[in-house]
Amino acid sequence: MNIQPINNKQNYTAFSGHGGCERIIKNGRFNYITTETRFFRDYKTLKYAINYINEVFRDVKEKSFVVGACSTGEDIYSLKMLMHEAPVKILGFDIGKDTIKRARSGIFEFYIPHDKKAQKYTQFVEMNTFNDKFLVDECDNLSPEQVALKEEFNKLFKNIDSKNKMIYKLTEAFRKFLDIAYVEFDRKLYKLKSKDSNCTFVNGDILELNKILSTKRKNQLFAFKNAFYHIITNDEGAQRLSKPHSQTKPILDKIFQNINKSLDKNGLFIMGEEEHKQKSDVTIISKSLIDNGFIPIRTDSKYPSIWKKVKEVDYR
Ligand SMILES: C[S@@+](CC[C@H](N)C(=O)[O-])C[C@H]1O[C@@H](n2cnc3c(N)ncnc32)[C@H](O)[C@@H]1O
Repeated sequence: MNIQPINNKQNYTAFSGHGGCERIIKNGRFNYITTETRFFRDYKTLKYAINYINEVFRDVKEKSFVVGACSTGEDIYSLKMLMHEAPVKILGFDIGKDTIKRARSGIFEFYIPHDKKAQKYTQFVEMNTFNDKFLVDECDNLSPEQVALKEEFNKLFKNIDSKNKMIYKLTEAFRKFLDIAYVEFDRKLYKLKSKDSNCTFVNGDILELNKILSTKRKNQLFAFKNAFYHIITNDEGAQRLSKPHSQTKPILDKIFQNINKSLDKNGLFIMGEEEHKQKSDVTIISKSLIDNGFIPIRTDSKYPSIWKKVKEVDYR
């Protein structure tokens, strides 16, 4: 049995998915990147996008997707599961070297709250959109949609480690706030049944897309979900401050020109549903998308989450 203190960023976020955070060096400075993620995060957005792709690109036999900010791989396999058996090649990239190593390992961990106390804690720290624990937990009252997703998950992954308890000791602040000293989780490990050569992972920065993307292949979908705050804000400890628009606009324009170039006409760019939660001003992202040949086609929260490429842009 493992007892760990919850007193730093890494452990704090470990429950909210399967990532945590990684320390990287960028522009000669240490930076923390938040790698939290989960299977089927932004489910409605992903599902809408896949239905659209299957309809609009029905003549493209093998689809091709690029998924940036792929973290430990959950976004990639969620898209793969939503495509069912339909042929698709997915290239994932992320700026975190260790994060990409984890994605390549094909091993995923889940923390299932063991009792009411743990549930109280996880309700407090977890992201409030799609919770993926039902995929591996024996819970009742699943909706038909959840049953279908669980079936897809079981086709791809197998349990490699039965219950392994984790006890987390909470900090003083949490103890006072929630009146709990310890929380207990069942930790379950899952592994890809077989490595899929159609899902590949590379270490890379969205600011250097030319090093990542093939110039020959056009894609039908490009995702960079819940990650733009890393580009448009400065991480000053607990506070994220928006960088001035005059600084971010040229950077975003370059990114969206490259994304535009990599997509088929009518191809989709997917942004996460949770961008706005990072206290940054994301209107600059919409402005840059519009200036670079995209129009919004779906809004799931305050800002559009799916954009369609409607015209080529002139790259000079
Ligand atoms: C909060 S996670 C989101 C993961 C996943 N897309 C999702 O929606 O759950 C943000 C991810 O963006 C990645 N990231 C941050 N800046 C990046 C950059 N410049 N290029 C590529 N990936 C980046 C981080 O390493 C991290 O894995």
